[in-house]
Amino acid sequence: MIRTHVHPTRDAADASVAAELRVLLRAEPRAVLGFATGNTPIGLYRTLAADRAAGRVSLALASSFNLDEYVGLDPEDPRRFGAWMREQLFRHVDLPLARARFPDVDAVDLDAAARAYEAALASAGGLDWLVLGIGRNGHVGFNEPGSSVDSRTRVVELAETTRADAARTFGGAENVPRRAITMGVATILGAKRIRVLAFGAAKAAIVRACLHEPVSERCPATFLRGHPDVELHLDPESAALASP
Ligand code: PGA
Repeated sequence: MIRTHVHPTRDAADASVAAELRVLLRAEPRAVLGFATGNTPIGLYRTLAADRAAGRVSLALASSFNLDEYVGLDPEDPRRFGAWMREQLFRHVDLPLARARFPDVDAVDLDAAARAYEAALASAGGLDWLVLGIGRNGHVGFNEPGSSVDSRTRVVELAETTRADAARTFGGAENVPRRAITMGVATILGAKRIRVLAFGAAKAAIVRACLHEPVSERCPATFLRGHPDVELHLDPESAALASP
């Protein structure tokens, strides 16, 4: 069952999720966190940065694993999720960069790199807390429609809708990478707590599908309903088509 919270504003949703993370990090300073990229978590990361500046939170002992990373971009490309995370979060907080992990998309053997990422996460004890967005096609991480519930970290082909949604960043869909390494659905469901954020009218249909459509590979976000501690944080626009 997904516990759903409809907040009056996106800022209120970000504040609520950030407040939980502050409590968690005080109780478990060595927490292993899972981070997402995209437009959705930007406000949460801004809130965490402000919390750090005010001395309300410390990530000094924490570690993190990002959900996914594009394959095929230059290591210095600012559109890599590693660069994006440094800009949006890591340079504003005290999480040591050496403990902020990404799949090794520069490896010669990408399948081995994916397996190594899964193994590194397992040996860190798994994710204590994971923030997720949902793609318009129901993907979580880069688990596109068709991803199985028992999938693990692996190399994937990006769906056309995903590449279209990233077109603006890359100056055209044809320039968006075709592949990525992503945590699998089973990897995601292994997190102790999953906090899903979805904002704006463009997410209303997929939020409804995630909550009410049959659980199926056609919409990987529906698999979240099988998790024991998952919360969906919405604004009124993204909640508009969901039944109470
Ligand atoms: P967005 O992407 O946050 O940019 O909407 C969400 C996702 O694709 O997971």
